[in-house]
Amino acid sequence: MNFHVLTLFPDMIEQGLHTSILGKAMEKGCITLETTNIRDFSANKYNRVDDYPYGGGAGMVMEAEPVYRACKSVEAGIGRPARTVYLTPQGRVLNQAIVEELAMEEDLILLCGHYEGIDERVLEEVVTDYISIGDYVLTGGELGAMVLIDAVSRFVPGVLSNEESSQFESLQDNLLEYPHYTRPEEWHGKKVPPVLLSGDHRKIEAWRHEQSVKRTKERRPDLLKNAVTVTCAFYALEESWRELIRQTTEEMTRYGNLLDVGRKKIRKQHNTFGSGDFLLFAVPSILPTDSPVSAQEDFFQSFRGHNTPAALIYYGNPTEAEPQDSTLRMPADRLITSLQNQGFRILDTCQNPESSRERRLFLLRLREKIYQGIRKETATDA
Ligand code: ADE
Repeated sequence: MNFHVLTLFPDMIEQGLHTSILGKAMEKGCITLETTNIRDFSANKYNRVDDYPYGGGAGMVMEAEPVYRACKSVEAGIGRPARTVYLTPQGRVLNQAIVEELAMEEDLILLCGHYEGIDERVLEEVVTDYISIGDYVLTGGELGAMVLIDAVSRFVPGVLSNEESSQFESLQDNLLEYPHYTRPEEWHGKKVPPVLLSGDHRKIEAWRHEQSVKRTKERRPDLLKNAVTVTCAFYALEESWRELIRQTTEEMTRYGNLLDVGRKKIRKQHNTFGSGDFLLFAVPSILPTDSPVSAQEDFFQSFRGHNTPAALIYYGNPTEAEPQDSTLRMPADRLITSLQNQGFRILDTCQNPESSRERRLFLLRLREKIYQGIRKETATDA
């Protein structure tokens, strides 16, 4: 991933990012950082880049031309137009979903403003995204760019070690992290919670989940409003698909449940879900002749939702020669209709989860929707 920062203060960016984990990531070549001084593109002999605002008022405005030239010079280096983020308190407030989405780009141009802002006309021509790092006003965009680079880099392969991997972030579930403890077992008379010393991983996971929910309730109840419990109901023909479905669920949530509808018991039991649940239905696009049911929708007959948000995954190639439309749309339509009749709201479908990029995009779209508040939507819809 290549970050290109347009700024009047390149030293600030360079000094702030060349240390610690990001410094190492740059040495390894997982990320690159290029700073461009907008002043080098000034159109006058004093290297001035700002001027008085038309209409009067306090402060100075950065001129359009130097910003435009700096931007085009960076784009020429990249060889194609790249996503260009202007850091501004007027932008979308950065969150984990936006961070993950930006991490899919090969190149990101970050434009840092100063003074009262940048001439609107150049923003209209070069900016693709307006992003704020919070509802307060900074002296310039540099700290915002650094925050964004740090957060995005954590999702670039190789930046974090496996152990540090961002895959199991609690924030992914709109939950805060559970409390952490290390040695000694007792400090200032305070003991480490006994469950963490039990060695029972299931109990530890359950305790951590409970603590995450409790913490989020206490400290960030606004996040909890959009939190959902993810359940993946699946039928897998092969072990590799079972593995892929497990992996996909894990990529979506740390605390997911798996229901194998290949098992009669699961198909027959009452599977009831509310608006705080999220259902991921995963079935093969074509059922084998020895399938336990004759149509995809029959796997989920005992499933009931209450305006429960859901998504569909279809896997396995239909006969290669046939166009996707005729082979896939029909069963997908039928399945969607019957799930809708059973109280599920299908937000999205993914037809080839074996492509990791496709799967990531699908999960990102879902997460974006969850962040926007599918539960709120559910409440007003109802
Ligand atoms: N520039 C000034 N304030 C900012 C903010 N809150 N976020 C991003 N860039 C900014």
